[in-house]
Amino acid sequence: MTAAPTVTVDVRLTPDDLAATLRSDVFAGLTATPKWLPPKWFYDDRGSQLFDEITRLPEYYPTRAERGILAARAGQIANLTLADTLIELGSGTSEKTGLLLDALTEVGTLRRFVAFDVSEATLRTAAANILSGFDQLTVHAVVGDFQRHLDALPGGGTRLIAFLGSTIGNLVPAERAVLLRNLAGEMEPGDAFLLGVDLVKDPARLEAAYDDAAGVTAAFNKNVLCVLNRELGGHFDPRRFDHMARWVPEHEWVEMRLRSTREQHIEVDALGLDVDFAAGEEMRTEISAKFRRGGVERELAPAGLRLAHWWTDPAGDVAVALAVPSD
Ligand code: SAH
Ligand code: TRP
Repeated sequence: MTAAPTVTVDVRLTPDDLAATLRSDVFAGLTATPKWLPPKWFYDDRGSQLFDEITRLPEYYPTRAERGILAARAGQIANLTLADTLIELGSGTSEKTGLLLDALTEVGTLRRFVAFDVSEATLRTAAANILSGFDQLTVHAVVGDFQRHLDALPGGGTRLIAFLGSTIGNLVPAERAVLLRNLAGEMEPGDAFLLGVDLVKDPARLEAAYDDAAGVTAAFNKNVLCVLNRELGGHFDPRRFDHMARWVPEHEWVEMRLRSTREQHIEVDALGLDVDFAAGEEMRTEISAKFRRGGVERELAPAGLRLAHWWTDPAGDVAVALAVPSD
């Protein structure tokens, strides 16, 4: 009898590393003018659960639209790539990933799935779910930061690296350039990169996607304050901040902010900080950049990647791009 397959987990980001990075990021952000908070910290257990709810909101079209593209194109993607390894960056619940795994199983090449995320708890649950749905599949999880640990991607075989959900849009252009260059540096001829991006559209729809009527995105944004309270002995009262989402045309991104409803002084014990907020002061918590085809091509090229396919949903709301190493 053979042993039941298990998920192997490679921890590149230990809880201690995470705590140290949180301290230095938050110190830098809260002492800057204007203040900002680093977005990685949205995804604690509650944050991951709230994000999962966001993906089902009527205003939040990107998840549904991207799932539609994958449902329509997964067979073509499998035939084009013939990948034996699917790697997913920022994998979260890996909810849409099953479509790709099914298609690669259908063409008969699939051997291995690698999920890569900062959130260890989310990763373990997702990896276990995938494992139970696909026998014969080797499932590997990497707890890491895709801005620092891409060298942890397992090599060998023919790899399809998926980066879905427009997570790339949560990075500023300079960070995207570094990530794409590092990623291309890890890729071998025959590997392919599948990138999901949200597209520029009517600002009213974009702002609504990040400021839903049910207030789930507001709760998600304010949850970062709860992370600071719990992890760093912060004394934020989330009720004293308002959630905001604004389209910034110069950058073509939606910016999420928290606005202090009053003048307040907030201590963050673990940082020895006493932070002053003026009434109405706004702190940036996240950006979500929106893309156009030409812009995506122009970002891929200097990294050494060539856009090979570009698929959109019927409404043209989001796109999935397939890129390969340029020769
Ligand atoms: N790919 C999923 C989830 C998107 S949410 C989807 O399309 O729905 C973004 C995910 O990226 C979260 O699971 C979060 O934990 C992860 N993430 C955010 N920043 C990260 C980083 N720097 N390194 C690795 N994972 C990160
Ligand atoms: N990658 C997702 C996006 O930019 C992440 C996201 C969805 C998000 N809703 C959010 C980030 C609200 C911050 C706040 O669409």
